[in-house]
Amino acid sequence: MATTPDLQKSLDDARADTSFFGHPRGLATLFFTEMWERFSYYGMRALLILFMVAPVAKGGLGFGVAKAGAIYGLYTAMVYLLALPGGWVADRLVGQRKAVLYGGILIVLGEFCLVAPSLTTFYLGLVLLMMGTGLLKPNVSVIVGQLYTKADGRRDSGFSIFYMGINIGALVSPLACGWVAEKISWRLGFGVAGLGMIFGIIQYLLGGKHLGSAGLHPAPAASPADDRRQKRNGAISAVAALAIFAVVGVLGGSGTIDITPELISNALGIIMVALVIAIFSWLLLGKSWSPEERKRSGAILVLFLASAVFWSAFEQAGSSLSLFAERSTDRHLGAFEFPASWFQSVQPILVIALAPVFAWLWLALGKREPSSPTKFTLGLLMVGLGFALLVPVAANLGVSPWWLTGTYFIHTLGEMCLSPVGLSSMTKLAPARLGGFVMGMWFFSTAIGNFMAGRMASLYESMTLPTLFGTVALFALGAAVVLALLIKPTVRLMSGVK
Ligand code: PHE
Repeated sequence: MATTPDLQKSLDDARADTSFFGHPRGLATLFFTEMWERFSYYGMRALLILFMVAPVAKGGLGFGVAKAGAIYGLYTAMVYLLALPGGWVADRLVGQRKAVLYGGILIVLGEFCLVAPSLTTFYLGLVLLMMGTGLLKPNVSVIVGQLYTKADGRRDSGFSIFYMGINIGALVSPLACGWVAEKISWRLGFGVAGLGMIFGIIQYLLGGKHLGSAGLHPAPAASPADDRRQKRNGAISAVAALAIFAVVGVLGGSGTIDITPELISNALGIIMVALVIAIFSWLLLGKSWSPEERKRSGAILVLFLASAVFWSAFEQAGSSLSLFAERSTDRHLGAFEFPASWFQSVQPILVIALAPVFAWLWLALGKREPSSPTKFTLGLLMVGLGFALLVPVAANLGVSPWWLTGTYFIHTLGEMCLSPVGLSSMTKLAPARLGGFVMGMWFFSTAIGNFMAGRMASLYESMTLPTLFGTVALFALGAAVVLALLIKPTVRLMSGVK
C-alpha cells in the first residue's frame, strides 16, 4: 500500500515532466484517450440520425424524422447530463482513473451493441454509450487539471492542447465511420467507432504510468459523517433511478402504457425544466448565500440560459443540418459523391484552424478583450446568422455544399466566442464550495441545448425548411438581442469577476 508521501511524490514527478511539447508526458496519454473517445462519439453521432431515418431496405431503421429527432435529442442530452453522476462516482467512489477506464469499456460495449441487428440492442447500446461517456468525458478533463498545480503557467495551454485532441478525433471519425457506413454497412460504421475506443483504452492502460497518482483515489469528503451522508444520498438516488427504470419497464413491457421515445423525451424535458427551477431557486433564494454570492448566481443564470440556447442551435450540426446535407446538398466531387456524414468533419477542421487565431485575438485585444457576457452574445449572434444564411436556399434541392460549409464556418466562429469562456466564467462566478457542482451545471446547459436541438430536428418534415431554419435563426438572434441588453446588468452582477 503506497503511503501519502509516496503518492504525492509520484504526482509531483508526473507534473514536473516536460517531454510532451514542454508538458507532462501524462497529457499525451489523456490527449489520446479523449481523442479516441471523441472519435467514437462523433463518428457514431455522424451516422445516428441518418441511420435511424434510412429505409429498412437500405439497412436503416426506417424511423420517421419526428421519432429519430426525439431519440437524437434524448441520447445527446443524456450523454452530457450523465456527466453529473459520472463526476460524482469518480469523486466519491472510484477515483477518476477507474471511472475513465470503466467508461471506455461501456462505450466499446455500447458501440458493438449498435452493430448487432436488433432494435433491443440498438436501445441498449445507446444507454451504455450514455453511461460510458458520462463516466469518461468529465473525468478525463479532471485528470488533465490534476497534472498542473494551480500556479503552473502551462495549465491553460495544456487544456488548449487537449481541446485539439478532441477535435482531431471529431475530424477523422466521420470520414472513417461514414465511409464504412456508406460503402459496407451502417452497422459496421458503428463498429469502427467502437474499434477507435478500443485503441483508446489500450493506449490509456499503457500510458497510465505517466500519470503518477493523478486521479487514482476518490477525493476525501469534508468529514467521515459527510462522506456517509453523501454516499447514502448517492445510494438513494441510484435506487430511485433504478426503481423508475423498472416501473417504466414493467408498464411498457406489459403494454399498460405505450412507451415511445417521444414520451420519454417529453418526460425528460419536464424533468430538466423542474431541475433548472429547483437549482436556481436554491442558488438565488437560499438562506446560506451572501448578497454577493446571490448576485453572482444571477449572472450564472443568465449565462446558463444563453448557453442552452446557443447549443440548441449549434448541436443541430448532427441532426437537422445533417439531414439537409443528405437530402438537399450536392455532394459530388467530380464523379464521386461523398457521404453526408463527411460534413461532420468540417467544424473540427475549422476549430483546429481557428482556435489559435482566437487565442491570439483575445490576447492582442488586451484590456479591450470583450467580457464573457459579450462573448456569449457574439456566440448567439453567430449561431443565428449561420441558420439565417441557409434560409434563402433551404427550399432548393442539390444546393452547393458551400452553403452548409458557410453555416458551419459561422457556427464555429460562435463556438470560439462562447465555448472556451463558458466553463471558466461559470466556475469563477460560483461560490468556491460549489466548484464541481458548477462544472456539472455547464454540462447541464449543454444537455438542455442538445435536447432542444433534437426536438427542433423532429420538426424537419412538419414545416418547410425555410420556416424551420428561419425560426431557429430568429430564436437565436432574439436571444442575442435580449442578452445584448443584459450585458451591462450582468457585468454588474458579476461584480469584479472577469
Ligand atoms: N466539441 C466539444 C466537445 O466535444 C463540444 C462540447 C462542449 C461538449 C461543451 C460538451 C460540453 O468536447
